[in-house]
Amino acid sequence: MSENPIIKAFTTVEELQKYAAGMIARLLNEGIGERGNASIALSGGSTPKGVYQRLGGEPFLSQVDWMRVHLFWGDERCVPPDHRDSNFRMTDEALLRKIHVPAANIHRIRAELPPADAATLYEEDIRSYFGGARPVFDVMLLGLGEDGHTASLFPGTSIVSEQARYVADVFVPEFNARRISLTLPVINAARMIIFLATGNNKAAIARDVIAGKGNYPAGLVKPGTGMLFWLLDDAAASLLTA
Ligand code: 6PG
Repeated sequence: MSENPIIKAFTTVEELQKYAAGMIARLLNEGIGERGNASIALSGGSTPKGVYQRLGGEPFLSQVDWMRVHLFWGDERCVPPDHRDSNFRMTDEALLRKIHVPAANIHRIRAELPPADAATLYEEDIRSYFGGARPVFDVMLLGLGEDGHTASLFPGTSIVSEQARYVADVFVPEFNARRISLTLPVINAARMIIFLATGNNKAAIARDVIAGKGNYPAGLVKPGTGMLFWLLDDAAASLLTA
């Protein structure tokens, strides 16, 4: 495991998005080269949308053999796939519609189902893709909430301490809604974990999480044998000490 995360700050969000898209394309190609296919767990929220849009355009679109890429999600809101809050809908509009990828490679969380059923089915899908072995995603994209959550691992929720299941559903009091999320054992097993955070509103939490302060779920993201990158714009990096 890399003892320390690699932190890169960018003057503009656009520069970050371009760098992130290029990094993801390279990592996917490495996975395809080494294992014949590659797997990525996509983050929800608003920050990654621009990265997905760039991945779905040139030069990155033609750099990746998307037929060999398997797309998963780090978490999902318990809404239908066409709902405005759906992480799937966001990624479908930004990326999926632009890439030639078999339907079987799109491992959507079926969040329109009862949450416990959706979580069970998603875990079965993950176990099946990884052939029963421990899931090791080539790329794990994560966002950062101002409260230190990541994926749908929110402070004070039981899923944060889940060590057996790869996927769980969880009630999130601040939204008065349930969500479905990968758990830390899966997140931390990934080859490359990439946090994306932009904006002044993320500066304090990014500083604290990177410094290991507080007991935030995002601070529990510690890759086992993989690497951890933070891609920040200057605003989100503005409170980091050297
Ligand atoms: C979600 C994400 C969540 C997100 C953070 C940051 O489903 O919303 O998984 O963890 O990454 O809340 O969201 P923003 O990128 O919108 O700031």
